[in-house]
Amino acid sequence: QNDEPTTIVVFGASGDLAKKKTFPALFHLYQNGLLPKRTKIFGYARTQMDHAEFHKRVVSHFKSDADKEKVSEFLAICKYVSGKYDVDDDFERLRAEIDAAEADENVNTLPDRVHVYYMALPPSVFVSVATHIKKNVYDESCVNRIIIEKPFGHDSESSKQLSQDIGALFEEKEVFRIDHYLGKEMVKNIMTLRFANVFYEAVWNRHYVSNIQITFKEPFGTEGRGGYFDEFGIIRDVMQNHLLQVLSIVAMNQPKTLDAEDIRDRKTEVLRRILPIQLEDTLLGQYVGTHDGSKPGYKDDDTVPKDSNTPTFAQCVMHVDNDRWRGVPWVIKAGKALDEAKMLIRIQFKDMPSALFPNLARNELVIQVSPKEAVYLKTIVKKPGLSTRLAMSELDLTYSKRYHDIKIPDAYATLILDVLNGDHSNFVRSDELEEAWRIFTPLLHKIEDESVVPFPYEYGSRGPKGVDEFTSERANYKRTNL
Ligand code: BG6
Repeated sequence: QNDEPTTIVVFGASGDLAKKKTFPALFHLYQNGLLPKRTKIFGYARTQMDHAEFHKRVVSHFKSDADKEKVSEFLAICKYVSGKYDVDDDFERLRAEIDAAEADENVNTLPDRVHVYYMALPPSVFVSVATHIKKNVYDESCVNRIIIEKPFGHDSESSKQLSQDIGALFEEKEVFRIDHYLGKEMVKNIMTLRFANVFYEAVWNRHYVSNIQITFKEPFGTEGRGGYFDEFGIIRDVMQNHLLQVLSIVAMNQPKTLDAEDIRDRKTEVLRRILPIQLEDTLLGQYVGTHDGSKPGYKDDDTVPKDSNTPTFAQCVMHVDNDRWRGVPWVIKAGKALDEAKMLIRIQFKDMPSALFPNLARNELVIQVSPKEAVYLKTIVKKPGLSTRLAMSELDLTYSKRYHDIKIPDAYATLILDVLNGDHSNFVRSDELEEAWRIFTPLLHKIEDESVVPFPYEYGSRGPKGVDEFTSERANYKRTNL
């Protein structure tokens, strides 16, 4: 563990992300002895409040069984500074507080001190805060790291502008762009599965794989976030970042080493081989309320315009144009207000040309990211007992059964720990981001310029009509039931 004296400043400390994710993750690390010993945490936001009120908010999302003693120890290292996002004096006050706290600990002159600036902020104040951090808070005499959260722009152009603005202030090695999917246990497991097992790597290509699906389903709508969501839609909210990041790890070639830059080189390389997505290869949906009125439609939200065409569901077929994957369709699908919570990667293998057993169903490898971490391999067996028929079964590695005594950490906790260790492996580099926008921007512009109307689907359903046919027809997916 890294033990450099560390100061973490959370900008946007009174917001939802900080309350729900950042502070619980920091507490998780603290509780497990994973924060460097002399860590100080500052919350910074516009809301006027005293330390006590801030502490109350910080603990509001801690688990109810959190150890009380540890909680009060943790709160003792958390301070609050209120200030505007565009006022020099306010940032100067923050800087003075940091200096004073470091002087108290006698660490203010140590060159290996680390400052982490965590921007849990809406995009409208991003550049202003980054500018003031650089101008008023950044400390040349120590290591500075800045964490930024999506959205990283709205399309290629705005993202390029943002990268330029951030790049003018901070070096790429100081920047940590969070995509929290890269902190999930099963996503972090993909490289190990692929490159540490002889049998997976051998079949991980177009000769054996028929199609790949990456699916994200949520059983709730955009309630409470309609205003934000309507500006972005499901493609920007989930696909262009989370699902494409997962795709790049499933599709990439083996990195030279486990070094962050080698991994990110390979991911970028494979993203470069993905053709921009066509509207014809896309199915868009928007949820409507249930028949019985128990669940609202997307447009029933007061913060969503009544004529909104923003998709809350999208499914598209993508192609990776390289020797490993040419000809293999990748179906990525994401939707809100669907029938279940699920995020998984399904790799369907080709038909088995068996002379002994005709009409076999296909093998599949499923990596389930959530809600329950699991890897299972759909495998054909002889039906046990006197029958000579075949059955589809699975080699099942459900983590809650196999590793029931290990608590899987929240993605944010592992990512913050990576930042403290200066490890960029699970963060998005600017060239990856640029590629991700290149793949989606023409589609997004076309949808918006032509006001493409998404197909309606009922809250709690499997998605718009034709969702399953899309996968079977466009990706040659065959159901695996025998
Ligand atoms: C966020 C999106 O990035 O990811 C949300 O903005 C989405 O709309 C969330 O609900 C999903 O994350 P998780 O970890 O709950 O699967």
